[in-house]
Amino acid sequence: MTSSQQPPTLKHVLVCGGAGFIGSSFARNFLAWHPESRVTVVDKLTYAGNTANLSPVWSDGRFEFQRADICDYDRMALLVAPADAVVNFAAESHVDRSIVDPDVFVRTNVNGVNTLLRAAKDAWGTGEMATRRFLQVSTDEVYGHVGEGATDENAPLKPRNPYSASKAGAELLAFSYHTNFGLPVLVTRGENTIGPYQYPEKATPLFITNAMEDKPLPIYGQGEAIRHYVYVDDHAAAIDLVLRKGTPGEAYNIGNDEEVNTVELARTILGLLGKPDSLMRFVPDRPGHDYRYNLDYRKIVELGWVAKHRFAQTIRETVDWYREHEEWWRAIKAGEYREYYERQYATLER
Ligand code: NAD
Ligand code: TYD
Repeated sequence: MTSSQQPPTLKHVLVCGGAGFIGSSFARNFLAWHPESRVTVVDKLTYAGNTANLSPVWSDGRFEFQRADICDYDRMALLVAPADAVVNFAAESHVDRSIVDPDVFVRTNVNGVNTLLRAAKDAWGTGEMATRRFLQVSTDEVYGHVGEGATDENAPLKPRNPYSASKAGAELLAFSYHTNFGLPVLVTRGENTIGPYQYPEKATPLFITNAMEDKPLPIYGQGEAIRHYVYVDDHAAAIDLVLRKGTPGEAYNIGNDEEVNTVELARTILGLLGKPDSLMRFVPDRPGHDYRYNLDYRKIVELGWVAKHRFAQTIRETVDWYREHEEWWRAIKAGEYREYYERQYATLER
């Protein structure tokens, strides 16, 4: 094992995009899992960023928040320099929005990641690389539609929408910094993730909150598209594991083997909430819809990851959280969200 593969001591972690859904789970859990470490969250606070997601740790003496854009080199250089690791969640993350307006996806997901990588390369210098880590959070969507079988980490990247194409670009840039500058880069490719604090544009929180309001659940096409759903804290634990034990220069899939299509997802949510199946509404399909992802995730299991949740528990706990936190999602649905919803679901009967 070379020195760059020794598990580093991560006393101070910079969590970019940590006011979003998965990043805030990582920040909250990281502080609990590692009482000796501290976290600085950096977030631009776009429509998807919400400091309320960090309220459980806001007053913790080991937590700090900085509002900044990952495209701002000067701010990133100052913030990256004292950190032992950067974990980058910051991204535009919703496929449907990327189809309407790809530019902001390229700006943040490609240019922003390059800025962050450059700041880390410059700030850390060659002598200090071995003790640092740069983890880029990526997605199963970089493999594109997978008709048959499963994609392992060596499968070709074939993204098919602006979101996944920009995420693939970010990964390739990150690996190029490893190859050319020795930056200790790790990449994780997670499947669809659900749980508390997910912005209600994604299918699961959209379906739950619409059902609670007795509004229709918009199902694209025939509702046969297949996804796997990972509980957010399990995803955060996998990232923590890769950060500590992963080999720089490598990618790690994070997934499970429970295939769920959109109709099954909607029906399960309606059942848990005691709402009728008649709330399901079939609407025009998403253009370029990837009908199936399926990860071979043996590598992360070999590294030591054990998911604590199966789908039945994941969806039950998620529904329960939205039931118990109406004030959180109702505040979002009353804001910018309303305009987005009306534009995106113009054909939906209300
Ligand atoms: P999210 O949209 O909830 O959060 C993204 C966060 O990034 C927000 O807080 C936002 O304010 C911040 N941000 C956006 N642009 C920024 C910029 N220019 N500078 C600084 N901050 C910025 O997303 P999420 O669902 O939590 O996803 C987090 C990461 O995980 C993303 O990189 C996404 O591609 C990846 N991912 C998501 C899923 C999923 O199912 N949600 C699955 C696999 C991978
Ligand atoms: P989504 O949560 O947007 O995640 P992904 O990035 O995997 O597309 O969507 C999950 C699945 O649900 C996907 O197959 C698209 C479908 N979907 C709908 O049928 N209706 C909707 O309103 C949304 C947002 C998604």
